This record gives sequence, structure tokens and C-alpha cells, in this order.
Amino acid sequence: MREQKAELRQNMLHYLRTIEETQFKKKCAQISARLIMDPLWQSARVVAVTISMAREVETRSLIESAWASGKKVAVPQCEPKTKTLMFCPIDSFSSLKPGHLGLMEPDVSKTGRIDPADLELVIVPGVVFDRRGFRIGYGGGYYDRLLSIYQGPTLSLLLSDQFIDQIPAEAHDKKVQVLLTEKDRIDTGGFAGHAYGNKGERAD
Ligand SMILES: Nc1ncnc2c1ncn2[C@@H]1O[C@H](COP(=O)(O)OP(=O)(O)OP(=O)(O)O)[C@@H](O)[C@H]1O
Ligand SMILES: [Mg+2]
Repeated sequence: MREQKAELRQNMLHYLRTIEETQFKKKCAQISARLIMDPLWQSARVVAVTISMAREVETRSLIESAWASGKKVAVPQCEPKTKTLMFCPIDSFSSLKPGHLGLMEPDVSKTGRIDPADLELVIVPGVVFDRRGFRIGYGGGYYDRLLSIYQGPTLSLLLSDQFIDQIPAEAHDKKVQVLLTEKDRIDTGGFAGHAYGNKGERAD
């Protein structure tokens, strides 16, 4: 399973690098425009968003838009020892510094932290997805760990090319509730669901 996921991840990362720059930017802009109109985004007052890198759907403009509409933005900091994420509120990109694996991370001494229970929407990053809401991330299990405790709304931003038929999901893999691509919006009904025993219901 692990090797199968690794191969699917590598193939997709390779494919993403082959997309022509203007095409990629155009798709990102379409996805962003959809997100900003999305009820899940519009109703969330506190949103958790990663700082995008290379061939990930671009998030800086989304963060700026969130600030402009009065939302609180929380960005993750990786804790490699425990493979957990800590979320820090930022109101400026100057609170970021290069961190784990070259990712831009918040400087906790400047930002403080936010309780995951206070997040109202988590934008979940991923490399490969299926239409059930399962995903392959970068392999650390960081987001699966977060989603085992965070029960609120989740949404992923992806190019429609990032879908495959079926992710080989394991028991710890958590579904994402809403998948937004440049072409469509899929509500998986998977509120904090997982591979086995998902009732697809919200806890509250
Ligand atoms: N809730 C959890 N508790 C303990 N270990 C976990 C949990 N979730 C995932 N893991 C472990 O993390 C490792 C990586 O998981 P997986 O291959 O699903 O990563 P991923 O989904 O690509 O990563 P991410 O969630 O960071 O995007 C697995 O070995 C798995 O056992
Ligand atoms: Mg996983």
C-alpha cells in the first residue's frame, strides 16, 4: 500500500511539473474564483490554509482575499518529531520564515497559536485525489492526524487532472468533505469520515 501510494504520488508530481505555466496559472485562478464564491469559504471566519509551493494551487491570493473579507487566517507549522501540525494566526506574510523541508512557516514567537477546535474550515493539501474524497498527501500523515481530531469542514483545491479512480485508502486516511477543481465542486458527504465505518455525518 505504501509503495503504491508513493508511486501514485511521484507520478502525479511529475505530471504536475509538465503543465505549462500559463495553463497552470489559469487553472489556479479558476479554482480560486470558485473558492471565494463557495458557501463553505464564505461562512468560515477562521480558515486554515497552507502556503502553496511550486505546483500546488496558489494560496497567497486566497489568503489576501480572506484578510480583505475579515477572516482570520491560520497557517500550519510542522512538528516533524510527532508529525503533527500547529496552527498559527497570521495577518501578514512577514510573519513567515523558511521552515521544515523549505516550507514557509509561521514564526510562532510572533504569531502565537490557535486551537484547532477554533478553526472553521481547513483547506487540506494533497497530491492525488479520488471523487470519494480520499487523498494522497506528501506521506507524513500530518493531515490525517489533524483530521482524526478536527471535526469541522474540510475542503481541498486541486486540478481536475489530479483525480484518479480510486486512492488505495488505509484505515487512518480521512476523507475531505468538498473537492474544488477548475471544473467542478464535489461534496463527498465525508464529514471527518474515514475509510472504514464512515457515517458521513457531522458530529454536532
Ligand atoms: N491518526 C494517525 N495516528 C497515527 N499515525 C497516523 C495517523 N494518520 C496517519 N498516520 C501515519 O502516517 C503515515 C503516513 O500516512 P499517509 O501515507 O496516509 O500520508 P499522507 O496522507 O500522504 O500524508 P498527509 O496526511 O500529511 O497529507 C502512515 O504510516 C500512517 O500510519
Ligand atoms: Mg493519508
